Amino acid sequence: MSLQRGRQTMSPWLQLILPSVVVFTLASGFGASSQDDLTTGKFYKVVNGKVDARTYNGFRRYHGGCSHCHGPDGVGSTFASALVDRLPSIELFRLTVLGGQRSGASVMQGFADDPNVAPYIDDIYAYLQARADGALGRGRPGRLER
Ligand code: HEC
Repeated sequence: MSLQRGRQTMSPWLQLILPSVVVFTLASGFGASSQDDLTTGKFYKVVNGKVDARTYNGFRRYHGGCSHCHGPDGVGSTFASALVDRLPSIELFRLTVLGGQRSGASVMQGFADDPNVAPYIDDIYAYLQARADGALGRGRPGRLER
């Protein structure tokens, strides 16, 4: 099928479905948190070791709710794996953290009902992603001026 003839030979089914695919793609794009995420897949901003508000909040939330099992700065502990060595995709991260996970005898309860975690899950991801990418070192980060 040549490119020029492609339009004429497009099936009626495709003509129906194609516009809605485009609309759906656009609509799901707007669900993302910011334009930056869409283009780069990065949730954090780090400049000279200082982080944006979201990433800083993620640092705080992580150390409030996760570090006692996953270790300070995401490096892991005897209770649970490191999160900075192989960070899951944002979709899997949300599912796992909200729904919980079991690995052999080790169990992590889901955080869907935790008001200190559930609303800030993408912030926590931003912090861990910055750590996993090597963009941010260990310890409390500085904050970027607004
Ligand atoms: C009570 C201990 C505990 C706490 C608190 C905890 N986790 Fe977990 N987490 C685990 C265990 C155990 C597993 C499953 C086994 C493993 O990966 O070590 C796990 C698994 C995970 C996984 C999947 C890792 C993988 O490689 O499959 C992610 C992501 C995760 N936790 C994130 C978090 C985040 C984010 C928080 C804080 C909101 C948190 N966890 C708090 C114990 C905990």
